[in-house]
Amino acid sequence: MALGEKRTLIKSRKRVRDHGEVFTPEWLVRDMCDLVAGACLRVGSRFLEPACGDGNFLAEILRRKLAAARQIAGGRGDSLVFRREAFRALTSLYGVDILPDNVFACRARLLALWGRHLGPRLRNRADAARCHTAARCVLARNIVLGDTLHPAGTETHAPIVFTEWQWAPLRLDARGRPAPDACAVIATDFTLAELLDPPTDTLAFAESARNTRAAQRYWEIGLDFFADALALGVPVAFPPAPDAPTPPPRTVELRGPREIQPLLAL
Ligand SMILES: C[S@@+](CC[C@H](N)C(=O)[O-])C[C@H]1O[C@@H](n2cnc3c(N)ncnc32)[C@H](O)[C@@H]1O
Repeated sequence: MALGEKRTLIKSRKRVRDHGEVFTPEWLVRDMCDLVAGACLRVGSRFLEPACGDGNFLAEILRRKLAAARQIAGGRGDSLVFRREAFRALTSLYGVDILPDNVFACRARLLALWGRHLGPRLRNRADAARCHTAARCVLARNIVLGDTLHPAGTETHAPIVFTEWQWAPLRLDARGRPAPDACAVIATDFTLAELLDPPTDTLAFAESARNTRAAQRYWEIGLDFFADALALGVPVAFPPAPDAPTPPPRTVELRGPREIQPLLAL
């Protein structure tokens, strides 16, 4: 949405009656985000909006995180550091809504905002397309359709599953800082139900997390690999039932260090 454009706060009386859908005005969103201003400026700090609508809060937080990402990159929006941090910002935001059009609108809004910051800095069209595919995959996993009041699922809504994205540097640059083009992203799936009510036994929790979907996946970012890996088919639909047969993994060679190298199972 263009700056200064007015957003309608109500779409229909029916939606207000059925789903309590009244959007928060921009000034209030900003004021509320100011209350947690520090967290909004930490690129990796995770936010979950349990009734995200079309993303009023998530968009404001993403805007702040992207500004922080630019600072980390020394003000250089064209650097690999900025690209990594911009991806980290995107992976840190989660949302649920019970209405599909809101979920799609929220994903589209975050993608557009993210693309406006990153787009001009991408090398060429192919690069931009790969990054957008990756961003869409992240958003499809982080902004989901569901009933937050029943995170384990209902007859009409599947259990809510989120991907936790962990970022680990694979090597340091000459100055001892994480090299921006060699970073592993470890994706683990959790159901919201188990996050809200974790088993007291840590081992059981780890097991249940692993069983949520395929085990952890690794891939390298920078050098476009992150985008490529996601584009190659990390599933964006709801996960199969735990007892469903596991399809044979597709494999891709990684260019990273040996310990995570051999295969990338998607
Ligand atoms: C008051 S609006 C707020 C939207 C947005 N957070 C904002 O501040 O602009 C409430 C939102 O919650 C969604 N919602 C209602 N019941 C829900 C449920 N059980 N689980 C998830 N979302 C729900 C509605 O579709 C609506 O988008």
